[in-house]
Amino acid sequence: MCGIVGYVGQQSAGPILLEGLQRLEYRGYDSSGIAVLDRDGALSVLKRQGKLRDLEAAIGVMPPGAAGIGHTRWATHGTPSDRNAHPHASSSGDVVVVHNGIVENYRSLKALLDAAKPERARSWQSETDTEVIPELIARELNQGRSFVEAMRACLGLLHGASAIAAFHRADPSRIYAARKGSAGGIVIGYGDGEMYLASDLPALLPHTATVYHLEDGEIAVVDSQGAVVHRVNQPPLRPVSRQVDLDPVAVARGPYRHFMLKEIHEQPRALSDTIRGRARLDPPSALADEFELSDDQLRSVERVLVIGMGTSLHAAMIGRWWIEQIAGIPADFDNASEFRFRAPVIGPSPLVVSVTQSGETIDTLGAMDHVRDRWGAPQIVITNVEGSEATRKADASILLRCGPEVGVASTKTFVGSLAALYLLACRIGRARGVLDDGELTERLEQLLTAPSLVERGLELSKRCKEIASSYTGAANFLVLGRGIEHPIAMEAALKCKEISYVHAEGYAAGEMKHGPIALLDQQFPVIALATRGPLFDKMMSAIQQVSARQAPVIAIGDEGDAELAELADHYIGVPPANDLLTPFALTPVIQLLAYHIALARGLDIDQPRNLAKTVTVE
Ligand code: M6R
Repeated sequence: MCGIVGYVGQQSAGPILLEGLQRLEYRGYDSSGIAVLDRDGALSVLKRQGKLRDLEAAIGVMPPGAAGIGHTRWATHGTPSDRNAHPHASSSGDVVVVHNGIVENYRSLKALLDAAKPERARSWQSETDTEVIPELIARELNQGRSFVEAMRACLGLLHGASAIAAFHRADPSRIYAARKGSAGGIVIGYGDGEMYLASDLPALLPHTATVYHLEDGEIAVVDSQGAVVHRVNQPPLRPVSRQVDLDPVAVARGPYRHFMLKEIHEQPRALSDTIRGRARLDPPSALADEFELSDDQLRSVERVLVIGMGTSLHAAMIGRWWIEQIAGIPADFDNASEFRFRAPVIGPSPLVVSVTQSGETIDTLGAMDHVRDRWGAPQIVITNVEGSEATRKADASILLRCGPEVGVASTKTFVGSLAALYLLACRIGRARGVLDDGELTERLEQLLTAPSLVERGLELSKRCKEIASSYTGAANFLVLGRGIEHPIAMEAALKCKEISYVHAEGYAAGEMKHGPIALLDQQFPVIALATRGPLFDKMMSAIQQVSARQAPVIAIGDEGDAELAELADHYIGVPPANDLLTPFALTPVIQLLAYHIALARGLDIDQPRNLAKTVTVE
């Protein structure tokens, strides 16, 4: 989703801004722009629809100036176009702004500004909600306010979450940042005689590991020597920065053609790292350290609700299954965007677990607020991003150790989230006395096989590629699974949709005959997940029903399963796993199938159209 960068120092700002934006490309965007200010107040604003290379080509010779802001836009209000791209300036051209988030009341604010200055009506330069922001700041400045006061007044008028970077043409020595709500973050980066702004850490990577994350409601004034933060009703202060650990090698694509492929292959490592030290066998313990909720608190929990969106929701569905099976406590899952606008009954004594790889998904953050405001229930977040907004909202965090995930499609963070949920189920089960030493040891030993299950799944890449080549032209897929494999069927369908642009539906196999079967014919391939678990026979019946409609069947089951192989048109054998662990065996295969279909179709796998890595708007 939208990305923000900023720079003030002695170097030429333009190339630094462009490089920072390149590092945010993975978030997904449809247009981009930079604004650079030189010491004499000469302003250059350059924006382009399309990729950053289009912007670079349009810029030609880089404008002079040692202060600037930049943006990658993911359209919400108004089509992707040059004029809707950020930065946006006030009508005077003095105040320049880039913005993440949505101004929900922008229509009424436009009307307010138009009414105050009728001659300005119809002079809006874009269709965006953002354009009201520089205009509102300029209006406040005209009333004699300082820039910080003007930003504060502007924030007070905006409905919805916003993250803003800005500057004033008259002052090339400063850039400003502000945050209201959870529209993604703003990070201030500390250099030597130069300072940076970014919505995400990767943009700061080559420059600095010393950062400050702006908190909700803070406004920062940044010059080449540092930053001063303004909070409501408090004196300005120099914030305490901290060191972050970002390995530059980890964000490079290495020998892989796409980040997604690299990240699929990093899954065994991501899993081992996430599990390391958290699944101890002698004596057995799960998540014993670094976990802020006590056994007493976990013992008093009577119901667990797991929430998330997209791939994280599919992890939540599997987490629900494990919490019921392993911890023996009622559990449910919910789509965060729906949950937050209902009045669900989640008690008594609930524990809410949010799964969000980015920790910045607005739907999930909104649901966490809903939980806090309505029930004050204890909350745990499972996330890959330390310091993300979700970690600040939760009472306890389980941090994945997957390393940066650049591909828009979640892969290694999915298996990492699964490992964290499994460990959490063990921890709750242990705290509640459901698992004795022997049972806990057995559960943990099973989890410790997960990295090798995934590793062996990766060896099936060639087979996945062969099968994918037969279905490059398919317009639809139905993906069937049962029990704990049903969420994997949904994840398979999501992957087909998002990177292969193939319409796909993930269904519980028992549901097929209640409607979807009407779709089936020779042109409608069905992917069937059918490992030898308790529901294998039921899956075999479903496959028979598919075959009877002459729909091609791609079956994924245990390796060496001759019966399944015979029934299917194509068969992929994954390593046999314990019934609770089959998601780990199946996941690499469904990811690789979607990847190879997308590859054969020549699609932009790491940055699929219309998608964003972190969804910070509703
Ligand atoms: O950062 P989150 O895990 O909260 O993101 C949730 C979804 O937006 C995300 O899983 C999305 O569905 C991915 N593109 C899936 O690959």
